[in-house]
Amino acid sequence: DASDIEKGTYPHYMLKEIDEQPLVLRKIIQKYQNDQGELAIDGEILDAMNSADRIYIIAAGTSYHAGLVGKQYIEKVAKVPVEVHISSEFVYNTPLLSEKPLFIFISQSGETADSRAVLVSVKEMGHPALTITNVPGSTLSREADYTLLLHAGPEIAVASTKAYTAQVAVLAILAEVTAIAKGRELEFNLVQELGIVANAMETLCDSKETFEDISRSFLSTTRNAFFIGRSIDYYVGLEGALKLKEISYIQAEGFAGGELKHGTIALIEDGTPIIALATQEGVNLSIRGNVKEVVARGANPCIISMKGLDQDGDTFVLPEVHEMLSPLVSVIPLQLISYYAALHRDCDVDKPRNLAKSVTVE
Ligand code: G6P
Repeated sequence: DASDIEKGTYPHYMLKEIDEQPLVLRKIIQKYQNDQGELAIDGEILDAMNSADRIYIIAAGTSYHAGLVGKQYIEKVAKVPVEVHISSEFVYNTPLLSEKPLFIFISQSGETADSRAVLVSVKEMGHPALTITNVPGSTLSREADYTLLLHAGPEIAVASTKAYTAQVAVLAILAEVTAIAKGRELEFNLVQELGIVANAMETLCDSKETFEDISRSFLSTTRNAFFIGRSIDYYVGLEGALKLKEISYIQAEGFAGGELKHGTIALIEDGTPIIALATQEGVNLSIRGNVKEVVARGANPCIISMKGLDQDGDTFVLPEVHEMLSPLVSVIPLQLISYYAALHRDCDVDKPRNLAKSVTVE
């Protein structure tokens, strides 16, 4: 059938979409460059970014996790305060808004009903809204004032992969271009660094057997798994846990390393898989400390570290990229480990039970 043709030689859309990530990133770099090869974004959007006193990111699921990373980018690079909200909560749990808010809706499909409900009320209040979506002409795109496209191509698998990395990349570009518009000197060349990331993504996509082995040895019989990280790694851990639970039905949770001792450590038993991310220099020692704590209680650790921060015994060392852009690479092993966990359990990888690709009811 037609959908099989689109899958080409791939057994699943998810695997195909994971593999497309380097290509999508290169396309984004190209689409967001002007004729002079500089990163560029529509002037109206930059004006909106620069006149906002606070940005409210609204999203659900994987897009929410991209929003958490985006908050760090916008705050650190563009120096605008950002709040990130789950759309279904925002509707009745609306925070006190600032005087000049800008709303950013992140949605792969552009059709998520919970997010649309927020957009409708934002427009009623008369505030500006920007939608970051993969689907031109989608509801959230049409009803917002501005749109930034992900250029990721159709994402068919229910579990989102290439849309996540595309969202993170576009948010990095948005943060950077906003900073440039404010006349800030930047410490690094984002175009160049994203190019390095695209190459690193390729290396990771070429290491599938390694991730299949890791998945087999860490997750084949387990009922649960925990992801830990600090700082930006914590947000990637949340996404890793979501991926794993969505498609393999393994109960998975992401935690901030520092929160372990406040509850989660009670769940650690002999052999409990703990997937730890160590890509940030500033928290490397503390996340390593967390790994020791759980190992002392019997956990089976899978440590994914960044080159330069790696230690003997790490399970996988990621190619080095700019620390701020690490989510674009560290998420790929987590996507692939989840994929193989689902495959080995004979789960329906592309169409997991009870889930829909786009949730158009509140
Ligand atoms: C559904 C999908 C998720 C997705 C979420 C938000 O739950 O299964 O993969 O992250 O909706 O979708 P959106 O299209 O708004 O990004």
